[in-house]
Amino acid sequence: MSILPILIAPNPILRRKATLVSVVDNSIRELLKDMEETMIAENGIGLAAPQIGISKQILIMDVPTNISVDGEEIEGLEAYPNFFKMINPKISWASEQIATCQEGCLSVPGQFAPIKRPEKVRVKYLNENGESCETEFSHLQAACVQHEMDHLDGKLFVDYLSSIKRDMFIRKAQKIAQNR
Ligand code: NI
Repeated sequence: MSILPILIAPNPILRRKATLVSVVDNSIRELLKDMEETMIAENGIGLAAPQIGISKQILIMDVPTNISVDGEEIEGLEAYPNFFKMINPKISWASEQIATCQEGCLSVPGQFAPIKRPEKVRVKYLNENGESCETEFSHLQAACVQHEMDHLDGKLFVDYLSSIKRDMFIRKAQKIAQNR
């Protein structure tokens, strides 16, 4: 396993549409392990493959299920699994209800903004064994999975902001990344 460098906006790889994975083999499982190690090292709650320069439809996330979008604890949800590894994810259903969540991104370090998205989504994907799965997400998990899926479309959370704010966030993020 290895910790990989994270691409910082406006790196053009972050703007590419990621390609579908045709076979879930050992090289994909190796990549998932590297992504896991990288995400943990960077204290992230989600990571998409394009963020480490691999333009493939792969994401991982590890979000506490008992935290609502506004950061409050919800009792009784701790038993649900937190760690997801998804290949070729697709949204099969989204709630009409919208929720606002404070979002940040490892590719736009140090910047945060409230972003509106469907409150609940169902996602179809392949797991690391290549099996078809469908999972419903709500609360912070729903915001995170939609944020990570945006990465696979070449989209960043700053794209939901005004162009002035987006450019400012990217400039500030670059400065933070350069001074590390
Ligand atoms: Ni991100």
